Amino acid sequence: METPPFLAACRRQPARYTPVWLMRQAGRYLPEYRAIREKTGFLELCRTPDLAAEVTVGTALRLGVDAAIIFADILLVLDPMGAGLEFTRGDGPAIQHPVRSAADVDRLREVEPGALAYVAEAVKRARAALPATIPLIGFAGAPFTLASYLIEGGGSRLHARTKAFMLTDPGAWRALMERLVRAVAAYLDAQIDAGADAVQLFDSWVGCLAPSDYRTHVLPHVRELIGAIRPGTPVIHFGTDTAGLLECMRAAGGDVIGIDWRIDLDAAWSRLGHDVAVQGNLDPVALLAPVAEIRRRAAAILGQAAGRPGGVLPQTPVEHVLALVDAVHELSAR
Ligand code: CP3
Repeated sequence: METPPFLAACRRQPARYTPVWLMRQAGRYLPEYRAIREKTGFLELCRTPDLAAEVTVGTALRLGVDAAIIFADILLVLDPMGAGLEFTRGDGPAIQHPVRSAADVDRLREVEPGALAYVAEAVKRARAALPATIPLIGFAGAPFTLASYLIEGGGSRLHARTKAFMLTDPGAWRALMERLVRAVAAYLDAQIDAGADAVQLFDSWVGCLAPSDYRTHVLPHVRELIGAIRPGTPVIHFGTDTAGLLECMRAAGGDVIGIDWRIDLDAAWSRLGHDVAVQGNLDPVALLAPVAEIRRRAAAILGQAAGRPGGVLPQTPVEHVLALVDAVHELSAR
């Protein structure tokens, strides 16, 4: 069997076409997903391996994408640490016991092996149900982004409490990062053991940092985390708004660097160096535009990738996602 295009691209090997998958490819824009969510809360869905696997596999097959991503959330790991994770309808995630002091860091629990066994079980079932041609991506939040949720108590625009904590008590910050590195490394290894073919580290909010703060307070921890993940499985290191941080993220590691739309793909790639793979670059809001514009954008990104291998909003029309997947496959066929 040929190497699936997604895994070939992660390893910078030639593929028949440029693989495509979407962050939040399973979500509220899909009527099938909304039907399941009418009966089941979001966390309950994540904690029910049969349902989580069904959503993962059903979505990938329906969309015709080149990878499935396990249905879960970056914040699940915070719950067994004792943070009290809640998803209340419409409000996004909330942390009941935010971390605001060194004592709060000490009170966090080590994640027991097995605390997140439901995710590993969902990975196992999804892998068993997927065709061999479709790789399964496991994932976790990166330490900075998880720390931001823990410290802010939920989503945040400026991450002011997080930065203040980092700069005021660097010792407690380091202790927090070290706990998160241990928990996330074990969690990702458990997903790999269960059958994940690649793993993605989401540093969704890291773009708020000055490069010097990233280098001092984040980079060493991410490097340690990526180094701790079992070798042989491609690691995708993703962040948003990272135009100021690309070289630092590259230095922290990853086989693939995930970028967003705020930087041209060719410019990002020449800064990263062509000895690493690149993923991403389409603005999710572009999927609200007419199909002709979506195809134009896909062509532009593929053009910048120059033949080298390259979150859906709830209001996105499903046909637009299908059109994107078709456009990428058709325009990049070789
Ligand atoms: O299909 C997939 O991509 C896999 C599953 C997945 C989810 N969240 C499911 C989800 C993944 C990979 C994530 C990642 C995630 N979760 C991120 C990183 C995103 C990025 O682009 O960097 C973040 C910041 C989170 C935390 C989170 N989870 C937020 C802020 C929210 C609320 C926002 C919203 O859309 O309601 C969630 C909830 C969530 N995670 C949903 C899904 C499908 C929506 C839940 C619902 O059904 O109501």
